[in-house]
Amino acid sequence: MGDEDRPLIGVIDAGTRTVKFCVFASQQTKEIAEHAIDVEIVTPKEGWSEQDPLEILRAIKECIEKVLLELGPRAKRIVTIGITNQRETTIVWDKLTGKPLYNAIVWNDIRTDSTVDIILGRTPENNKNYYQSICGLPISPYFSAFKLKWLTHFSQDVRRAVKAKRCLFGTVDTWILWNLTGGPQGGVHLTDVTNASRTFLMNLDTLNWDPLLMHTFRLPSELLPEIRSSSEIYGKITKGYPLEGVTISGILGNQQSSLVGQCCLKEGQAKNTYRSGCFLLYNTGNVRVQSTHGLVTTVAYKFGSEPPVYALEGSVAVAGAAMNWLRDNMGFIKDVSKDTESLAQEVFNTGDVYFVPAFKGLYAPYWRKDARGIICGLTAFSTKKHIVRAALEAVCFQTRDILEAMNKDCGFPLSKLHVDGVMTTNNLLMQLQADISGIPVIRAQSQDISALGTAIAAGSAKGVEVWDVNSEEREIVPSDTFLPTSTEDERDSRYTKWKMAVQRSLGWALP
Ligand code: G3P
Repeated sequence: MGDEDRPLIGVIDAGTRTVKFCVFASQQTKEIAEHAIDVEIVTPKEGWSEQDPLEILRAIKECIEKVLLELGPRAKRIVTIGITNQRETTIVWDKLTGKPLYNAIVWNDIRTDSTVDIILGRTPENNKNYYQSICGLPISPYFSAFKLKWLTHFSQDVRRAVKAKRCLFGTVDTWILWNLTGGPQGGVHLTDVTNASRTFLMNLDTLNWDPLLMHTFRLPSELLPEIRSSSEIYGKITKGYPLEGVTISGILGNQQSSLVGQCCLKEGQAKNTYRSGCFLLYNTGNVRVQSTHGLVTTVAYKFGSEPPVYALEGSVAVAGAAMNWLRDNMGFIKDVSKDTESLAQEVFNTGDVYFVPAFKGLYAPYWRKDARGIICGLTAFSTKKHIVRAALEAVCFQTRDILEAMNKDCGFPLSKLHVDGVMTTNNLLMQLQADISGIPVIRAQSQDISALGTAIAAGSAKGVEVWDVNSEEREIVPSDTFLPTSTEDERDSRYTKWKMAVQRSLGWALP
């Protein structure tokens, strides 16, 4: 098929900081058009993180309009669209007016500490892993159910709407889908299995809301969307939106989506995405593996009526976000993408400085909400260059923490690491990652791997079928490789120091 005849697939990529609309030609990995808009994050209090759900919708509309303008007559070839999104972020709205009842509570918000303690108090032996066998997750403020519980408890508007049976809950995918398919006038209230698996309410075996978890959180079931596969036709874009009448046929949480985009579709394949956080997913095929080393079990994807594919995930809350902190709070750098690499390269090493950016506690494999950020090993010779380099190394050490846990859970070491995400344009970071983990790092030469995964899901949905995942015609994303240059002794002695720094960060936020 000539390039000018290929059907096109649009993807809404609603990330934490940026909303994008990208367009791909079927079976091709490079997007042909894209527009992105940054979305504001508000922090009304220490540890809180919110977004305006209406701003997300406005940004999506503007991005689509800009891309359609750029494509001109080619826009008519867009046959379907998909949605990929920041996961766990929680939105509640009034189903009659369509208005949000509160700002979106973003995934890394830690206001729900007290809610977590209440749930932990109701849990046998206060065991934070007690529900892992049902939903794959530890008790942590990260997951949506804790945010939803907080909202139904602390917001009067939400409480009233729940009582009047007017309240709907959704992760960002659900909010977008409901609005795009008609909002109060018949919008479909659905989510996909990957997003549902991050709520703490879905049973990983039945792929349905779990009665015990619903009871534990005392949440009425009518708030929750229906759970569907990641690749099927959910509905059509409503009147008044650009691309009116076009189907929506793929939804994937953004980390699962980059697993698909990286083509890690076989058991044993893994990828790590470096954005504001860092997320390493390991495909475990149709078997759900329960971690005993601090990882979570999640649904990787489910294409139509095919059985679900699961993944083990190691999530790191602060990766790129530490670079933003160095820029915004410390004034050490002006431009995150340019300055971190050049500044850190001006020194040969960190001078034994270690930086644990546990601003909002630590996620995998520690799951300690009481951890806080720490910089240790400072001497009179330390400069901001050493600290910036230590911040880059922190991303790599946190990834090594996950790799160590993954190797133990899987029983054999991962021999290479596929990576993507905006931070991977930093060559120094990539080399440090190879040197700290001791395995080759294979970098995808594309910034839109998450969007690509969803283009594949949307394009291969039954009734759309413009993308064949098994076709030989499918392009492979071009990549380059960074090989380790360190010795095992060097790696291990530096990793031991990192673990000592982590120990010092734990418990810092205890009363
Ligand atoms: O689980 C949170 C994750 O989905 C956030 O993604 O890259 O948009 O910050 P990102």
